[in-house]
Amino acid sequence: MEVGKRFKIACIGAGNVGATAAQYCAEMELGDVVLTDIVEGLPQGKALDLTQAGPIRGYGSIVTGTNDYADIEGADVCIVTAGLPRKPGMSRLDLLEKNARIITDICEKIAKYAPDTVVVLVTNPLDVMAYLAYQKLGFPSARLVGMAGCLDSARLRAFVAMELNVNMKNVDTMVLGSHGDDMVPLPEYTTVSGIPIAKLMSQDRVDALVERTRKGGGEIVALLKTGSAYYAPGASAARMAQSIIRDEKQILPCSTLLTGQYGLEDVYIGAPVVLGKAGVEQVLELDLTDDQRAALHASAGEVREGIKGLQELGIL
Ligand code: APR
Repeated sequence: MEVGKRFKIACIGAGNVGATAAQYCAEMELGDVVLTDIVEGLPQGKALDLTQAGPIRGYGSIVTGTNDYADIEGADVCIVTAGLPRKPGMSRLDLLEKNARIITDICEKIAKYAPDTVVVLVTNPLDVMAYLAYQKLGFPSARLVGMAGCLDSARLRAFVAMELNVNMKNVDTMVLGSHGDDMVPLPEYTTVSGIPIAKLMSQDRVDALVERTRKGGGEIVALLKTGSAYYAPGASAARMAQSIIRDEKQILPCSTLLTGQYGLEDVYIGAPVVLGKAGVEQVLELDLTDDQRAALHASAGEVREGIKGLQELGIL
């Protein structure tokens, strides 16, 4: 990416998460945003609406909508949220197959039109889709990163702040593992203005907040009844795009290819990474307790089950 140029972010999937990510990217003036979807009119309508919010919100990013992948050409970052949500009666394997076919198709388009981009993948089941996208794109793993830990850690940060009645900007934390019930939140790495969380609340309360974080997505689904979370997921994807586009080198928990770190390899899973203009520039290895390490390995086992499912379907 050249310094001083006008950046371009393609949001592939203009549903709830994609459009929200587009909104935050525009608000932060990360660059111009191209919303892409297969539904005719949807990305165009949302893009026009978001552009018209610009004069009021004070941003100059241009948001356009398209059904033509050729329009993502030259994108510096592609945020991929396209996919189907799980519907009643649909098994996990059905969802896996349907989203895997969508992601496979999109990867072909990205490889064709934006071969130098960094992809931030959001579609669930996240870590399995990230591994699939990595295989299909043929990019170095640094340029395919999954969004999960940013969201999970934001949820834990918010819960800690709500519990202590303090500013959530002061709360820092780290969540490893796969996105879902098997995530591995790390209370030892959770601090409020540098103060370890254990000094501020009882172990019971820490455990309760960790458990709420694990079930954070489900809590919102139960409340909304007809959909899943999108503000925090959209904000998390935009935050990752920000670190990449502005070469901020923020340390964020992201789904990334492990190559021996934590005793794991050839699997995408959440770990702290340095995100900069090259994408994942470093994967950090933290000291874990035996229990945490075992939980991370169990989490990786679940991801591998999903990968095996795709292999059995002939998709991978
Ligand atoms: N190309 C582009 N867009 C597609 C394609 C495709 N091949 N297939 C589906 N889409 C679009 C749909 O038309 C829809 O507009 O993806 C969009 C998905 O939007 P929503 O149904 O609103 O789903 P959303 O809540 O945004 O979640 C998207 O992110 O957090 C994850 O679990 C979530 O996997 C899901 C994804």
